[in-house]
Amino acid sequence: MNTGCKITKTRANDRYVMNATDRPMQPVSVPAGWSPDSWRVHPATQQPQYPDAAALAAVQAELGVLPPLVTSWEILALKKQIAEAQEGKRFLLQGGDCAESFSDCESGLISNRLKVLLQMSLVLLHGLRLPVVRVGRFAGQYAKPRSTDTETRGEVTLPSYRGDFINQPDFSVEARTADPRRMVKGHARSAMTMNFVRALIDGGFADLHHPEYWDLGWVRHSPLSEEYHRMVAAVADAVRFMETISGESLHNLNRADFYTSHEALLLPYEEALTRQVPRQWGWFNLSTHFPWIGMRTAALDGAHVEYFRGLRNPVAVKIGPSVNVDQLLRLADVLNPDNEPGRLSFIQRMGAGKVEEKLPALVQAVQREGKRVLWICDPMHGNTESTSNGFKTRRFENIQAELDRSFDIHAGLGSRLGGVHLELTGENVTECLGGARELTETDLERAYRSTVDPRLNYEQSLEIAMLIVRKQSGLARPRQA
Ligand code: PEP
Ligand code: CO
Repeated sequence: MNTGCKITKTRANDRYVMNATDRPMQPVSVPAGWSPDSWRVHPATQQPQYPDAAALAAVQAELGVLPPLVTSWEILALKKQIAEAQEGKRFLLQGGDCAESFSDCESGLISNRLKVLLQMSLVLLHGLRLPVVRVGRFAGQYAKPRSTDTETRGEVTLPSYRGDFINQPDFSVEARTADPRRMVKGHARSAMTMNFVRALIDGGFADLHHPEYWDLGWVRHSPLSEEYHRMVAAVADAVRFMETISGESLHNLNRADFYTSHEALLLPYEEALTRQVPRQWGWFNLSTHFPWIGMRTAALDGAHVEYFRGLRNPVAVKIGPSVNVDQLLRLADVLNPDNEPGRLSFIQRMGAGKVEEKLPALVQAVQREGKRVLWICDPMHGNTESTSNGFKTRRFENIQAELDRSFDIHAGLGSRLGGVHLELTGENVTECLGGARELTETDLERAYRSTVDPRLNYEQSLEIAMLIVRKQSGLARPRQA
C-alpha cells in the first residue's frame, strides 16, 4: 500500500515556535505519533467494506502518485483568510450540493453553481462591507455518511449507497458492492470540476466589472431580481468611483479566490492524497483546501480526528446538538493544540428548535478558554424533515430561524458568527419549502432532483444572502414588514 510518503526526521518534525499571537502563519510541528496512515489503528466508522484488499491497495498506490487537486500555497492562503474571518475581517460563504454525483459533472451545472455563489458573495460583500471567503462544497464531495450500513427491500439486504466514490444507488449486488476504482474516477471528476472552475475564474468570469456574466436565465422573472440588480448597480458605481479617483482600472477585481471543501470521510482516498511538498514542513491534504469532519465521525478517539490532527490544512468539524462543552474543548485541543489562527472552524448545526438551548454554553466555553475558532452556521442539517408525501425536505423559515438565532446568540455573548454553510444549487429545483416563491409540498414533486439532502434552489440561496445582510445591518425583513 502506498501511503503517499513517510515522515522524514528532517524538516517534517522540526519544532517551530509561535512567538506572536498576531502572526497567523507561524508553523508549529507534526504532532507526535502522527503519520498519514496512523488513523488505521483507531476505530474508523462510516467506511465501506472493500471485498478485495489488493485492489484497494493498487488504487491507493495509483492515487498516491497522481497529481494533486490543490496546492499548499492555496491552502495556506485560505488559512490566512480564515484567520482574518476569525478576527471579523471577512465573512465565509461555503456552499454546494449535499453529494456530488459523477453524472452531474457537467459544464452547465458547475457554472450555474458558481454563478449563485458569486451572486451571493456580491450581496454579502455589498451588505456586510466585508470581503467574502468563497468555499465550494465540490470537487470531492462524493462520500456520504449513512445511518445504517445496509438497506433491506423485501427479502433482500444490501450495503447502503454511500456516495459515488464508493458504490452506486441502484439496488443490486453489483451496484452496491464497494469498488475502489470509483475513487480514481472521483479524483478525475474532481480534477475536471476544478479545471473548469479555475479556467472560468482565470478567464474573468468572476470579474466585478461584469456581474452580468453571472446572470441566470430566469433571474429577470425572480421576485428578488430588482433588489439584486440594485446591489449590482451600487457595486458597479463604487467600482467606477474608485477607478475614477485612482485613474486606473482595479485589476484585482478581475478575479476572485475560490476554494474547495468536502467531508473527508473516505479515509483511504484522503490518505492517498496526503503529501509533503518541497520547501514546506509537514503534511497537506492536497485533495481539497478545506476538509471537514462530519457530525457522525467526530469521535475524539476515532480515525477521522486522528487523521485530521496531523494536516496543515485549515480544518472544520460539524458540531451537532449532542456535543457537550468538554467534547468541544477536547476537539479544539486535539485539532489545534497550538491555537494556531485560521486552523480550526466549528460548523454548528443544531436545528432551529435546539440552537438556543445548545449553542450558548459552547460559545462561552470557547471564549473562556481563549480558543481561536471560526464559527460557521450550517442551518440545513438540523432542520431536515419528511413530508406526508414522502419527500425529505427543509423549511426555509426554519433555515432562516436557525441563522437568525445564531447571529443573535453570538452577538449577545460578544462572539461572532463568521460564516454560513449551505446546501444549494444553481438550478431551479423544488427541494426546500418556502422562500420568496413560497414553495409548497405539492411543488416538491415538480423538480426534486437531489438523491440525498434537499438543497436551496437559486432564488432561495440568494434570498438567504439578502436576509443575512438585512439581519446584520439591522434592517427589517421584507416579509415581516
Ligand atoms: C452533510 O454536510 O451533508 C452532512 C452529512 O452533514 P452532518 O455531518 O452535519 O450531518
Ligand atoms: Co447533506
